Amino acid sequence: MRVLFIGDIVGSPGRQIVRERLADIVRQRQIDLVVANGENSASGFGITPRLAEELLTMGIEVLTGGNHSWDRKEILDFMPHEPRLLRPANFPEGNVGSGLYLGTARNGVKYAVLNLQGRVFMTPIDDPFRKADSELAKVPDDVAFVFVDMHAETTSEKIAMGWYLDGRVTAVVGTHTHVATADERVLPGGTAYITDVGMSGPHGGVIGMDRGGIIKKFLDGLPARFEVASGDVEMNCVLIETDDLGPRNAAGRLRAQFIERLRFKID
Ligand code: FE2
Repeated sequence: MRVLFIGDIVGSPGRQIVRERLADIVRQRQIDLVVANGENSASGFGITPRLAEELLTMGIEVLTGGNHSWDRKEILDFMPHEPRLLRPANFPEGNVGSGLYLGTARNGVKYAVLNLQGRVFMTPIDDPFRKADSELAKVPDDVAFVFVDMHAETTSEKIAMGWYLDGRVTAVVGTHTHVATADERVLPGGTAYITDVGMSGPHGGVIGMDRGGIIKKFLDGLPARFEVASGDVEMNCVLIETDDLGPRNAAGRLRAQFIERLRFKID
């Protein structure tokens, strides 16, 4: 089984490169399932119902989120009606939406996507580690592929989650920093891991936003509104391939055979 994960889609440049390239990538690389982080798709901050629907019709099956999931108020009413739009599972009880989605990929394999968020240098929400335990306990035994998006600021918290879930899930990928790391590997228990996938959006600014405004804020320290950057649009992804015929991991899920970083640019 081959699963593509697209890193944080930032603003209209991010949506545009996904729209232009995804169908070819899915065909050429024989992808069975596409998951993407969409929390920055609305001008860099949040996601609207219209944009969620747009991304879910481009060939993305499940959208994950993070600290910006809630930025657009209209998403609160929409979330309960679209289970394929996730938000981190470890936000406090009582919030709308879910951090876990169970589905069937186009090759017939049952999968789960779990979205978590870190707490280091971020809002101190519930413990993502214990929440991972309780959410994974809900995943039925016949689910073969278990994918985790760990949306977090620090490398250490994401690496710790990778090790914590090694042997229990098929993949743990990090998002949020918008800067791809080069540490992709398959951990000994069969879990594919990368600290950050990077973003799908303009790389001519500072983590997707216009560099002039960001530099000004570093200089004057005043509150500011940021606009999405332009130029150097890239789509940063990882491709995870599973070992379908070999032994399963300790939790009975598919083991990853390899994880590969993919970077596409607009010509
Ligand atoms: Fe984020």
